[in-house]
Amino acid sequence: MPIVTTGRGDPGTSVVAELKRAGIVVVPVVPSVEHALRVQEEGADAVVASGCEAGGHVGTVSTLPLVPQVVDAVDVPVVAAGGIGDGRGFLAALALGACGVQLGTRLICSLESEAPPGYKERVLEAAETDTLVTEVLTGKTVRTLATPGLREYETARAGGADAAHLAELKRRFRTSMRSGRREEYPAVAGQISGLVRQILPVREILDGILADAAALAQQLASAAGNAG
Ligand SMILES: Cc1cc2nc3c(=O)[nH]c(=O)nc-3n(C[C@H](O)[C@H](O)[C@H](O)COP(=O)(O)O)c2cc1C
Repeated sequence: MPIVTTGRGDPGTSVVAELKRAGIVVVPVVPSVEHALRVQEEGADAVVASGCEAGGHVGTVSTLPLVPQVVDAVDVPVVAAGGIGDGRGFLAALALGACGVQLGTRLICSLESEAPPGYKERVLEAAETDTLVTEVLTGKTVRTLATPGLREYETARAGGADAAHLAELKRRFRTSMRSGRREEYPAVAGQISGLVRQILPVREILDGILADAAALAQQLASAAGNAG
């Protein structure tokens, strides 16, 4: 069965309806309740509610508040994305009402991932504070691992630098990006990078998440039983 998921913000009003007319299952990524309601109205079969801690294109609301509000607003199944990297995150997403999760950052550090040389190492070395959101890469807000050039650009932009200075910083960033130095490479990844410390096969990552979530659910259930 063909399935299309749309990302990178708003696909525009005709895309979901057109895909549905072609008999395709459509699962758009949404950053807000408003967007979720609109794609549901257009015929989306499910939605991926993606919080702004995710790697890649992001909105402004984080996963913890976004997922339950989307779950309450729509009738279609909701998949949670953004900041989920282990069994705790998976179980938390289910507790928020999601029917499943979408992982990005954790899977960069899988054996199967074809990330360019140095990319996986950047994620393995990153702390949770090492990302930023920038429009420099694609013209839309993207969360990526910071580089010195991107930090300089975003600090200047936040400080109200004029267009000419920003254009110069952007040019310098693009030059440094091509230097081949690992720390200058804007590896797109989310805030959960700080939790990722091992490159493993995808099967092992997913089995580990499911096993840890099941064990944790049992612990929580017995703690609740003891409290009762
Ligand atoms: C390197 C990278 C590339 C991505 N590319 C896309 C993309 O092309 N389209 C899209 O809809 N989402 C894209 N995403 C977002 C993921 O599909 C996923 O929703 C997100 O990474 C989940 O959050 P997490 O990174 O915290 O796991 C990308 C994410 C990463 C890390």
